[in-house]
Amino acid sequence: MFKGIDLFSDTVTQPSRAMKEAMMNAELGDEQKGEDPTTHALEEMAADLLGKEAAMFFPSATMANEIAIRLFCEPGDELIAAETCHLFFAEAGGPAIHAGAMARPIHSPTGIFSAKELRDTYRWSKGPHYPISKMLSIENTTNVGGGHAWPLEQLDDVMHAAKELQLKTHLDGSRLFNAVVKTATTAKRIANNFDAVTLCLSKGLGCPIGAILAYPAKDFVKVRRLKQIFGGAMRQSGILAAAGIYALQNNIDRLAEDHANAALLAQRMHNEITEIRVENSNPSTNMVFFEWHDEKIPPNEFLQRCINHGVRFSHFGEKRFRAVTHRQITQKDINTVMETLKEICLEK
Ligand SMILES: Cc1ncc(COP(=O)(O)O)c(C=O)c1O
Repeated sequence: MFKGIDLFSDTVTQPSRAMKEAMMNAELGDEQKGEDPTTHALEEMAADLLGKEAAMFFPSATMANEIAIRLFCEPGDELIAAETCHLFFAEAGGPAIHAGAMARPIHSPTGIFSAKELRDTYRWSKGPHYPISKMLSIENTTNVGGGHAWPLEQLDDVMHAAKELQLKTHLDGSRLFNAVVKTATTAKRIANNFDAVTLCLSKGLGCPIGAILAYPAKDFVKVRRLKQIFGGAMRQSGILAAAGIYALQNNIDRLAEDHANAALLAQRMHNEITEIRVENSNPSTNMVFFEWHDEKIPPNEFLQRCINHGVRFSHFGEKRFRAVTHRQITQKDINTVMETLKEICLEK
């Protein structure tokens, strides 16, 4: 475990004492038998928040995403999504492995695209030769695209086009509540037209484990069976679901602090460190992407020196780094990060 200021991801958050107390007090049963009351309570709460008929608790957002693809795609069907999305980038080829789905990426470095770009990517040719464009997945907020929340009108336009094209639609809302806070709306409003929604509990919301997949109630038997096939059916999962309930009741509004800390970091990096090029000095949510440009300290060494000084970032691409703010990062930490970066610059 990294002991310093860990900006690697919001996945590094540790459960708070109050969350652990909620976990300790949870009423438990056998989830595989449908007998865990706390898991049921979380599923009902999540379905209600997302405005969906049904929701199921999973161990990870990756599993929830992959099951959504299995639900909608047959082998050879096309899954349309931004080229930078987690489904294509970091699920180890899961769409091909589990569903036999073909990736049909939309060229979009930010992860956000227009209805026209969706229509241009959709495969219009029909007939026995052609794969079938079956499903659209949208990441909100985007991760490696830059931590952006989708503008609501643009999302509506794209969803309208998706319905016209008769695509099944999935929202990878692993960081949905960051988008909710950024766009000052509700989760229901963002999730509104999607057939299925993944919501991760173990990122900015601060749970140790867990994700939700919301889906149409008519698919319950299929989703439940897929959960079993994927090895995601659990036993006394209420101990984890209790953390999810706690997070949904207590940890949403505070995401605004993470956004403010990311903005502070981005602005200070932009203004004070000439070796750093910040991609967006006014970040949308809790992610700051930046490039390190210095001839004397190559990018890998920059990363290692930061770690040696007690600050950890993640590394994407040759010079591209990401800092993610979360529940355990304070404004004081941001000031310490800036001092560290200045010390590293002086070491040259
Ligand atoms: C956008 C997005 N979707 C899905 C996931 C998968 O989450 P997990 O690794 O917890 O399964 C991540 C993880 O970082 C993510 O950023």
